Amino acid sequence: MYKSRISGLGHFLPPSSVSNQDLCMLMDTSDEWIQERTGIKSRRWVDSNNITSSSQMGYQASLKAIENSGINKSDIDHILFATISPDHYFPGNGVLVQDLLGLDTIGATDIRNACSGFIYALSVANAYVQTGQYENILVIGSELQSPVLDKTTNGRDLSVIFGDGAGAAIISRSNNTSEIFSTHLHSEGKNALELSMKGPSAIHWVDKLERNQISPENFAPQMNGTLVFKNAIVRFEQVINEALNKNKMSSRDIGCLIPHQANLRISQFVQKKLGLRDNQVFNNIQKYGNTTGASIPIALSEAVEQGHVKRGDIVCLAAFGAGFTWGSALLRY
Ligand code: UT7
Repeated sequence: MYKSRISGLGHFLPPSSVSNQDLCMLMDTSDEWIQERTGIKSRRWVDSNNITSSSQMGYQASLKAIENSGINKSDIDHILFATISPDHYFPGNGVLVQDLLGLDTIGATDIRNACSGFIYALSVANAYVQTGQYENILVIGSELQSPVLDKTTNGRDLSVIFGDGAGAAIISRSNNTSEIFSTHLHSEGKNALELSMKGPSAIHWVDKLERNQISPENFAPQMNGTLVFKNAIVRFEQVINEALNKNKMSSRDIGCLIPHQANLRISQFVQKKLGLRDNQVFNNIQKYGNTTGASIPIALSEAVEQGHVKRGDIVCLAAFGAGFTWGSALLRY
């Protein structure tokens, strides 16, 4: 077995920042409510006059990750793209980035595990590198969510939370002490529809909407926020402890926890349960909102850029979201 590591990171955020005050012009909400319940002050939403795509944002993040890893792009031998907001119904975004990077005929895989998507992709990349099948894998998490959000008062519980953005990592064979120690994945399909967007899909198709056979809510994300919140705080703690126990570590060993940026209150609750100090947890939801599959690679990339995570630090990544799916990864950066 080989060891794998994160050799480079990059992220891309659309320039257009939308404050809580801006949202008050669109719906009945307030800066106070949003900050108190979620911690969010602003989010990035792509400019509707200059719309981009999740593959384009993923491509931009990938260019930075490749540059930071020190490898040549031609060294990449596989792509894993995690998104729930792909450019097309099919094909997936992985092949679009493969083409944008001009990477000949290497394989590309898409992963649709929402907020846990990046951890699931990292887990697959880790296994591929460990078995020797590939040496440098590009893993992307990218989401373009703002166009499908219901920005009226009706959809305010969801639309104030979510943002757009992309992050990417290069997972390489490791010849030094940097190492992904383990990954841990879980799901609970009985709650699949508690956080979901049903259409457009093969059974929720546009003509059914036009013939009034299904309602427009099927084409917007729906969330049982309280249930998601209650499950998230339990599963985050469980799956982080699972990673620590597997590697005979305790929460004191964590240099930096990067939780999926779902809600600042969830991160703070998990921090408290694990007894972590403020400087052991990195949050940037205040600026970017919840970017689903992109939130962990954006946060990790930013934590490295700002010096919160350095080479040799023990880092724990953890996510919970639609599916329900959840997971963690423990690594030495
Ligand atoms: O990343 C994927 C996983 N997602 C998550 O982890 C999200 C988990 N859930 C949450 O973060 C929270 O449940 C929310 C932030 C979505 C909602 O916060 P909450 O504290 O659970 O509020 P609530 O849904 O219980 O609503 C409380 C009140 C309601 O009014 P009434 O019925 O008490 O009069 C809502 O209508 O707040 C109202 N409300 C709002 N008010 C102002 C809901 N959204 C808003 C809003 N602005 N944007």
